[in-house]
Amino acid sequence: MFEHNSVNLDILKKRAFNLRWATVPEGVIPLTAADPDFPCAPEIAEAIIRFTQDRYLSYGPPAGLTEFKESVASFFTHKRNIPAHPEFIFPVDSAAFGIYLICKTFVSTGDEVIIFDPVDFLFRYATETVGGKAVPFAIPPGDAAVDFDLLERLISTKTRMICLCNPLNPTGKVFSRQELLTIGEIACKHNLIILSDEIWSDIVFAPNVFTSIASLNEEIRNQTVTVTGYSKSYGLAGLRIGTVMASNPAHYALLFAASLHNSTIHGANVLSQVAAMTALNECDYWLQGFVAHLQRMKDLCVRELNTIPGFNCIAPEGCYVAFTDIKGTGRSSNEIYQLLLEEAKVAVVPGAKEWFGEGAEGFIRMSFATSEDILTDALSRIKNTFSL
Ligand SMILES: Cc1ncc(COP(=O)(O)O)c(C=O)c1O
Repeated sequence: MFEHNSVNLDILKKRAFNLRWATVPEGVIPLTAADPDFPCAPEIAEAIIRFTQDRYLSYGPPAGLTEFKESVASFFTHKRNIPAHPEFIFPVDSAAFGIYLICKTFVSTGDEVIIFDPVDFLFRYATETVGGKAVPFAIPPGDAAVDFDLLERLISTKTRMICLCNPLNPTGKVFSRQELLTIGEIACKHNLIILSDEIWSDIVFAPNVFTSIASLNEEIRNQTVTVTGYSKSYGLAGLRIGTVMASNPAHYALLFAASLHNSTIHGANVLSQVAAMTALNECDYWLQGFVAHLQRMKDLCVRELNTIPGFNCIAPEGCYVAFTDIKGTGRSSNEIYQLLLEEAKVAVVPGAKEWFGEGAEGFIRMSFATSEDILTDALSRIKNTFSL
């Protein structure tokens, strides 16, 4: 399933946008947005075909298809150890929208939101879009100690929320149970909402183990809104489908009202819900094969990147991105990005503030969710560029 002959570059060049194959000049390998180069599991395509065969594509329930909500509740209960109920879960048209919705629900103009640094741009973007101020909290790469005293010092009377991104895109950190407990206790002490983005939670490399913060205890669970999605684990990015879950009924009511799903102004597409629930119900085998492939690609990528003078890549614990410190080259992230694009014909994401925050300067990020052949080609092009 994850061999080179499963990657159809002709299709990807027409359909894979967001900095990927359809957007880069011919000959460039885009290791940019984290979106797999492999087609989704066949069960997902078959379920969509079955659903459309009788040609009724009527309005769905505003809070989501019952079967979808039940699949997601079962996933959170059995795989994430969170006592989850379908009535407090609803589908949204992407995890990205879920993040925005949580900000819209709980953050008012002038409120402060603590976001990790570095972290995916979505947290800052969503916070600022609703008029809030993003306050960066530095998370060191690898398993270096996190300074939780600093976290407490960053909290002011205006702080409303802490955004947790676990596993952390772009560094690949998987937070330990103890770290999550500390974050949860701080949030409870200051009555802060915890936004827990767990879209990467399936992509965790052994022996690391993922823990959902909402599984820790009831007090923390009641402060937490969990958001997840199906783009990373199952290759469904174009279907724009995600899930928002609260354990606190009052939070759920506020989120659902803010979603505008009842008015039909927003809502999650029924075909996307069918796809996501099929992924959860039937595609475990596919996900396991994907993670096993990624584990090998991670080892290959990290090993090869670390042979380049001035590059230092700490192996990610989760996520399929390699976040490499390039400060030893004496060049900036943007300079390395340009050099790789022009000389190696490989597109990466520079560690620029607009992508990952200030803490990313001096790094580049590369996705390795591709075939071994494509990754090997990209890595040898990069190595050749630096041996010139
Ligand atoms: C941490 C994180 N959250 C959310 C998203 C967006 O997911 P979706 O495709 O469901 O909007 C991404 C995508 O890169 C991500 O890395």
